[in-house]
Amino acid sequence: MTQLCVAIFARDVQQVQAQVAAAAEAGADMIELRVDNITDSATVSQMIQTSSLPAIVTCRPTWEGGHCQLEESQRLTLLSEAAHRSAYIDIELKALASIAGLSTEPRTRRSGIICSSHDFTTRPAKLYQLLSELNDTNADVAKIVWTARSIRDNLEAFEILLNRAKPTIALCMGEAGVISRILAKKFGAFLTFASLGGDQATAPGQVSLQDMKRLYRWDTIGPETRVYGVVAQPVMHSMSPAIHNAAFDAVNHDGVYLPLLVEGSYESFKAFMETFTAMTALDLSGLSITLPHKENALRYLGEKGAHIEPLAKSIGAVNTIAIDRGQSADGNQQMQLRGLNTDYAAILDCITERLNIQRQDLRKYQVAVIGAGGTGRTAVAGLAHYGAQVTIYNRNLDRAQALADEFDQKIGSVKAAPLTELKHSRCQIYFHATSVGMYPKPEGCVFDGNCPALNGQSLVFDSIYNPIETRLLKLASSKGAKTISGVEMFVRQAVSQFETWTGQTAPMQIMRQVVISRLAGPQFESR
Ligand SMILES: NC(=O)c1ccc[n+]([C@@H]2O[C@H](COP(=O)([O-])OP(=O)(O)OC[C@H]3O[C@@H](n4cnc5c(N)ncnc54)[C@H](OP(=O)(O)O)[C@@H]3O)[C@@H](O)[C@H]2O)c1
Repeated sequence: MTQLCVAIFARDVQQVQAQVAAAAEAGADMIELRVDNITDSATVSQMIQTSSLPAIVTCRPTWEGGHCQLEESQRLTLLSEAAHRSAYIDIELKALASIAGLSTEPRTRRSGIICSSHDFTTRPAKLYQLLSELNDTNADVAKIVWTARSIRDNLEAFEILLNRAKPTIALCMGEAGVISRILAKKFGAFLTFASLGGDQATAPGQVSLQDMKRLYRWDTIGPETRVYGVVAQPVMHSMSPAIHNAAFDAVNHDGVYLPLLVEGSYESFKAFMETFTAMTALDLSGLSITLPHKENALRYLGEKGAHIEPLAKSIGAVNTIAIDRGQSADGNQQMQLRGLNTDYAAILDCITERLNIQRQDLRKYQVAVIGAGGTGRTAVAGLAHYGAQVTIYNRNLDRAQALADEFDQKIGSVKAAPLTELKHSRCQIYFHATSVGMYPKPEGCVFDGNCPALNGQSLVFDSIYNPIETRLLKLASSKGAKTISGVEMFVRQAVSQFETWTGQTAPMQIMRQVVISRLAGPQFESR
């Protein structure tokens, strides 16, 4: 069973004691005591004794990315003494020969030995040679860690774990390597590292223990766990892992949803898709696609001849990929990709549910779409497809006109108008798709100076979800209009993704609650 190990940078005995207690309480299996700045064995010994969890003692020299300034002989003495008190010591491959006597001692008389190799800048050119040298030692555990050049490096870490010759730790550092830390358990690593949170990480990309346990559902991860994720750049502030992992938890779906950092170019997206879908042991089963990859996803799926939902094609963006796997008649593994756009469906579902109508009834409605960017386009395509009479109000009229020309007379009608004309509008539905009023400038409101006549029959839908209740929605409510917050749109698109991937009814109320509580928290940017 893969151990969850909290790395603690040791300063003094009390601090170690307090942090070990916190790690134990939060569910860690073991700790790594980083004693780089401790100079005497007695203190290290005390630290080990005070630990209620099994301890790995590591005293990393500067030549391997650590801070230890001791003479090499003193460092090795300190480690050798710890090797009779701790559960494990970690010794670098280059230094192992210097404690050869220790590594040949019977295991009953010494701590376990983790023999390690780290590269803090890139993937070592001789990765597999290093691995075989690590495997050839007498050490009990082989540990190979490098800095991911891109997300694809994680796949090599997974292959190393799958083909391990002895208990192995294989991790990628950096933001692109985060998934190697979380999926270590799926691939049977000896351990993975987590931090106590805040600024306590001892290596780049280390995930906090709390996130590992609660956000990424560490305890439920196993070899069969299906993998999902959001493909984006940047990705770490996305709310999607929180919403989908909470949903998996609620219905006991054996899945984990990850942040997948893929650089913005089409080539990077394609390389990611080709490699991640090819590794069957990864069980990649579904992807959310967001900035800057929605067009890349459409192009990639088009080139692969995959099924793409027609409206996703006309919107020009895929935000969801379903990966269906099965066996052909001759027993070969088969994989099919499907591309969808759950954003337009979310917009339509929010509106039709609030008005208690069917999509087909939209033909009886006049809708003002305010904004002609990506979200405006998505709304226009969906609404016009179901026959609504749409007017696009935008600051830049040419942009609105170009969008109107593209979708006019396909089914519904689509016209363009300058934003300043909005005050004369008599539409029943207003869908707001600009960034005006969005955090960090919540004082903005597109109705300022442009407010149409609103009444109890009007519906005002703001795509902005931060703040949850924008000034636009407050103004609309004050005039008796019905309102919908961008939170609903965000939740609905995630609900559709969940149901597409799992075939189960999504726990919408739980998903909504996750979004609302995240938005109430201190940090987030966008999905
Ligand atoms: N709830 C959800 O799930 C969800 C999902 C995605 C996006 N959104 C929201 O949708 C909104 C638009 O996103 P997007 O991706 O469509 O952005 P986008 O492609 O950059 O388009 C921005 C739109 O806002 C207009 N705009 C920007 N600043 C303006 C200003 N000061 N005055 C008037 N108009 C202004 C632009 O008008 P010009 O053409 O004149 O520049 C354009 O129409 C954002 O608020 C975002 O939070 C919500």
